[in-house]
Order: sequence, then structure tokens, then C-alpha cells
Amino acid sequence: MRLVLLGLPGAGKGTQGGRISEKQGIPHISTGSMIRAVIASGSKLGSVVDSYISRGHLIPDDIAIVMLKERLRMDDCSTGWILDGFPRTVAQAKHLDATLMQEGIKLDYAFDIRISEEEAIRRIEQRRMCRECGEAYHLLYYPPTQQKVCDKCSGELYQRPDDNRQTALQRLGVHMKQTHPVVHYYAQSGRLISINGEREIELVFAGVDIAFSLLLDTGCAGEVR
Ligand code: AP5
Ligand code: MG
Repeated sequence: MRLVLLGLPGAGKGTQGGRISEKQGIPHISTGSMIRAVIASGSKLGSVVDSYISRGHLIPDDIAIVMLKERLRMDDCSTGWILDGFPRTVAQAKHLDATLMQEGIKLDYAFDIRISEEEAIRRIEQRRMCRECGEAYHLLYYPPTQQKVCDKCSGELYQRPDDNRQTALQRLGVHMKQTHPVVHYYAQSGRLISINGEREIELVFAGVDIAFSLLLDTGCAGEVR
């Protein structure tokens, strides 16, 4: 299965991507996490992409595409994958389709996790991430047992530099302008599944699971409320 997760910043792409990956046994590939790793490496490319991400802008399409293509060449991607944060522009979506077509494979579905902008801000402002394994916590909705310590791997929890209100508002604006058209791109080709993301984490995951069963039964895309 080859999937794309769409949704506003804070919608739960990382949260659901990790759970789908565990259940389906395919890698969860977050371009945001890949970019943060490049920044942490201190490379020249890291400082280039940091200048975009820290202001809430998208990194240039050509850099994002090269990063993703390199990742998809790795062995663990041979039986499928879940992309989180890619594509973020229609140009990236078209590029992905063209690349897959050259290899005789295709993207199966795009899951759009839908939440309001107000909920996105509430989730982003109180998110804490694990430096080691990338698990995302929320101080109210999904709190860690111990403050600043990851339940899964005991890594240190931190707040992403782009998780402040001002940058989050900028990211939401960029999303509506540059990324929202991607939803229509997949709807037009009958590959869009809309998921109600404004429920508890496990209920959203149950919705994703229902969508999987329906897809396997009928092959039809649609909406899971
Ligand atoms: P990225 O890291 O992908 O950030 P994003 O799209 O803004 O999404 P987030 O990671 O903020 O949210 P999420 O949907 O993963 O939510 P999460 O599961 O953590 O990208 C960062 C930047 O990199 C971009 O701004 C851009 O600059 C750049 N970039 C990345 N890819 C690019 C590309 N392809 N091209 C160009 N630039 C690119 O959940 C959020 C919070 O809510 C957590 O605290 C979680 O615990 C909580 N939560 C999750 N689900 C629920 C729920 N159902 N109920 C209650 N709380 C919940
Ligand atoms: Mg994320």
C-alpha cells in the first residue's frame, strides 16, 4: 500500500502515520522530520532549509523532491510507504505520480485528516516532540507520563522552534495557499479519503482502519465521519 497523509499543520499526520506504519508494516516517511534531521546535522543544506522552515515557509520543491526520491530508493520502501508532509504543492504531487509511473507503480490513496484552524493552533502550541524517536505528545490531549521524558524511549521532549503561535499562523496561511490545492488534485483522480480528525487519537485511527477495510472491499475512495 502506498499512501499520502494530508492535513493542516497539527492535524495528526505524524500521530496517525506512526500508528498506520506499525499496523500495516510499511515505513512512515515524514519530510518534516527529514528536514529537521538535515538542520541538526549542521550541513550547508541544513542552514538553507532552516531559513525557510523557521519562517513557516515551504522549502523549494526541487530540494524536497530530491530528498524524497533518495528516501524512496531505500530497501524498506519496496512493499509500500506512508508519506507525511509530501506532497505539499501540486507540482510535488505531479512529480510523485510521474516518478512512480516510470517505475510501474502508483500511489493508492491520499488520506486528508480534517481539523479546523483553531484546533490546529491548540494542538501545535502544546505539542512536545521526542528528540530521539520523534513521538509527538500534547500537554493536555496526549501528555507524557513524566514531564519532558518520552514514554516510548525515555528521550528528551522539546518544543519545535516552528511551534510558536506566530509561525503556526504563517504555516496555516501557506498551507491554504500552496498545499490545499493538493486535496483537489487527488479528489479529481478519485484517490482522496477524507477523515474527521477532530476526535480522540484512537477514534481517528479507528476511522483510518474503517477506511482501509472499505478500500480493500470496494476500492472506492470517499469520506469517513
Ligand atoms: P512538518 O513537520 O510536516 O509539519 P506540519 O505539516 O506543519 O505538520 P505537523 O508536524 O505540525 O503536524 P502533524 O499533522 O504531523 O500533527 P501531529 O501528529 O504532530 O513540516 C515542517 C516544515 O517542513 C513545513 O512547515 C515546511 O517548511 C517543511 N516541509 C516539510 N515537508 C515539505 C515539503 N514536502 N515541501 C516543502 N517544505 C516541506 O499532532 C499535532 C499535535 O496534536 C501533537 O501534540 C499530538 O499529540 C496532538 N494530536 C494529534 N492527533 C490528535 C487528536 N486526534 N486529538 C488530540 N490531539 C491530537
Ligand atoms: Mg508532523
